[in-house]
Amino acid sequence: MASKGHSFDADCMTLTRFVLAEQQKFPKATGDLSQLLNSIQTAVKAVSSAVRKAGIANMYGIAGNTNVQGEEVKKLDVLSNELFINMLTSSFTTHRLISEENECAIEVDAEKRGKYIVCFDPLDGSSNIDCLVSVGSIFGIYHKSEQAESEVTALQPGKNLVAAGYALYGSATMIVLSTGHGVNGFTYDPAIGEFILTEKNMKIPSRGKIYSINEGNEATWSEAIKEYVRSKKYPNSGKAYSARYVGSMVADVHRTIKYGGIFLYPASQTSPNGKLRLLYECIPMAFLVKEAGGLASNGNIDILDIVPEQIHQRSPIFLGSTEDVQDVLQLIQKYDK
Ligand code: AHM
Ligand code: MG
Repeated sequence: MASKGHSFDADCMTLTRFVLAEQQKFPKATGDLSQLLNSIQTAVKAVSSAVRKAGIANMYGIAGNTNVQGEEVKKLDVLSNELFINMLTSSFTTHRLISEENECAIEVDAEKRGKYIVCFDPLDGSSNIDCLVSVGSIFGIYHKSEQAESEVTALQPGKNLVAAGYALYGSATMIVLSTGHGVNGFTYDPAIGEFILTEKNMKIPSRGKIYSINEGNEATWSEAIKEYVRSKKYPNSGKAYSARYVGSMVADVHRTIKYGGIFLYPASQTSPNGKLRLLYECIPMAFLVKEAGGLASNGNIDILDIVPEQIHQRSPIFLGSTEDVQDVLQLIQKYDK
C-alpha cells in the first residue's frame, strides 16, 4: 500500500514569520518591535513549559518550596515574572517595564535600553494554577513618549498602544496578537517549537449567547448590573443566555472573542473600581476585543480612552460582542439618570 504523505505544512505561517511580514509593510520599521515580540514569544514558551509541568512539580514537592531533591521550586507566578523581565530587557528594545508583580516600574539599564514600554501580567489567574485550570499572560506595548520622564507621566491611554496580546495556557498554548491591524491567533506546536497561525483575522460575533461574571458577588452589584444579569437569565423573549466563568481573564476573554457574548467585572460597594488592573489586564484586552470588532467600556467611557494615573490602578470592565455591551451600557445610563 502506498504510504500516505504526512500532513506537515512545509510553508506554515509561524508567528515570527508573520511579524516579519507585517514589518515589511512599514519601510521605516527598524525591526525593534519584531525583536520585542520574539522575546515575548520566548518567555511564553518557557512559561508554558513551566505551567505544563506544574502538576508534576506539585506531586514531588510543593511549588514555592522544595522538591524531593531538596531543590527550591519557584512559584510559577514569580518564575513567569522573571522570565518576562529577563527576556524583555535582553531584547534591547525596552525602556521601562510595568509588571503586575512589581510595585514600581522597572527602568531598563541604560546599555540595554530601547524605545518601548511594556505593561504585562506574567501569569494571570494564578488562583487557578493549583487546580490545573487555564491561566494566561497579558501584555501591552507602547512607544516611550518623548516627554515621559517619571513613572506616572509615562502613562498613556490604551488608544496609544502599538500592540497587545495574550498567551493562553489552555488545552493548547496560544498567542493572540494585534498590532492594530486586526487580531490573529497562533497555536503552539511543541513538535517544532513554533507558534503557527491558526486563527486568521479573528472577529467577535455582534451578539452572543453567553454572559460571564462572578455571580457570587451579586449582593455587591449596582441595580443596573443586577437587572442586566437577571434579563439574561429571565429574558422577555427568546432563550436565556448560558453562564460561563473560568475566573482566568484570558480564558474568559478568549472564549468571548471566539463565541461572542459578554465578560463583566463591575464595580462593587467594596471595590468602586472593580478588581481588574487597567494597564496590564483591561487595556490590552480592550484593544484586542475592539480590533476584533467588539466593544470594551468601563461603564462610562471606552477603556482605551482612560488616561491612567497610577500603574496598578483598577477599572470596572464590560467587554465583548457590540450589542451585548451596548445593552449593559444602556442599563447603566438608565440608572444613572
Ligand atoms: P490575579 O491577577 O490575581 O490572577 O487576578 C485576576 C483574575 C482574572 O484573571 C479574573 O478575571 C479575575 O481575577 C477573577 O476574579 P474573581 O475571583 O474575583 O472572580
Ligand atoms: Mg492578573
